[in-house]
Amino acid sequence: MTAAASQCPFRADSEYSELSADTLTGSTDHGRSTVSHAAADYPVADWIDMAALAANPYPTYARLRAESPVTWVPQLNKFLVTNYAGCHAVEQDQETFSANVSGATMTRAIGAQPMLRRDDPEHSLDRAPINPVLRPKNVKEAWGPVFERNAEIYLDKVAELGPEEADLNRDYAAPVASQNLIDLLGLKDVTVEQVRRWSYDFIGGMGNVLDDQSIWDRCGASTEEADRLLEELIPYYRQNPDASMISAFANSGLPTSNVAANVKLTISGGMNEPQHMVTNMVWALSNHPEQRGQVLADPGLWASVFDEAVRWQSPIGMYPRETTRETVLQGVRIPAGAGIGVVVGSANHDTTQFGDTAEEFDIHRPKRPHLAFGAGVHLCAGHWAAKTSIGQIAVPMAYKRFPALRVDERRNESWDGWVFRGLTNLPITWN
Ligand code: HEM
Repeated sequence: MTAAASQCPFRADSEYSELSADTLTGSTDHGRSTVSHAAADYPVADWIDMAALAANPYPTYARLRAESPVTWVPQLNKFLVTNYAGCHAVEQDQETFSANVSGATMTRAIGAQPMLRRDDPEHSLDRAPINPVLRPKNVKEAWGPVFERNAEIYLDKVAELGPEEADLNRDYAAPVASQNLIDLLGLKDVTVEQVRRWSYDFIGGMGNVLDDQSIWDRCGASTEEADRLLEELIPYYRQNPDASMISAFANSGLPTSNVAANVKLTISGGMNEPQHMVTNMVWALSNHPEQRGQVLADPGLWASVFDEAVRWQSPIGMYPRETTRETVLQGVRIPAGAGIGVVVGSANHDTTQFGDTAEEFDIHRPKRPHLAFGAGVHLCAGHWAAKTSIGQIAVPMAYKRFPALRVDERRNESWDGWVFRGLTNLPITWN
């Protein structure tokens, strides 16, 4: 189906919208959002069922890729880009596809504009200080032992709970991801539960497209708590520098408000996604016993297991951009000021990039670049930390401790979401 663009005044009203939103018009904080466009036709996907998308997005993605990989989705007030070539093209052109999206709920949720909502050159000033902390050699040597200690602590707790009770998400993935992030950032006097709550509340605010006041209230309370702590920690690290991310930010010469915004950004993204990768990997291996046997026999395959699991069930399914000018993407004319959803979860199942078996989990597939960590200037700053802490440490250590580790089919597992997607609980057993 196509529609005349003139029927469709739109704006990118929430960059992480999981839910349907009313079509809005009007000016916004930097004046790019009200769109007036000459007649132009583009495909419209008005058939998308938002509940089905959250339950299992892959059938919807397959239909979007087949029918039109760049399409206007009225429920989301966005063009969704669902094939590999289209997502890759967006990532290579930040002058046309800006990360500084209008009315950004991310900026409201964490009370300031982080690097992920800036374009270069401002973005690179914010990002540069933490790059050395997160380089592969430093991650392995300085942080590897810390990640191992954290995994050990929570494996003991899983063992205490036993194979009838333990839930991999609740009892291992979440606390390990939270403690790893506390250490890497250099947060002090916080608990694993507190940082986990902050992360969930910030992500809730980022997706608060329907403007639910209770979500803003929770998010506001967490932002205030984090800000109070950072008011003490930033000056502390200026006096007492160490190897942590907050120390790197605090001693970079960036204004304190930028430091705080980027720490809160890292709290929201640096915990949820590694958490989901712990459960994704175990779920994938439980459902593919032959590949599970192969990796247990040859630990050199763990890197491939991580890389294939993050492609196959990407924890971030979609992220936003906004056009700064009229453009043509994959043959579709898009006006200036349009919200764009870069659906990397779909691009990572595109058969033109990954062959006919793109929908399958296969740790032996030929290596091809995927987009689970994004691409271009915003390529995930923490991707080496995630690969090491989860792919090389947390999951292999869990199998070492419980060689028969698998999903407990007597109890229910559940998946949720498409923008941020993961297992919300995963019962496990090992007898
Ligand atoms: C498997 C785990 C992870 C996944 C799948 C993931 C995914 C992503 C993606 C897709 C982006 C780009 C979003 C966009 O362009 O809009 C991103 C950016 C980012 N990630 Fe991650 N991430 C993970 C772990 C981490 C960790 C552990 C940290 C911190 C220690 C982290 C910190 C960041 C930061 C700071 C950015 C912003 C980069 C920039 O704007 O230049 N991430 N991540």
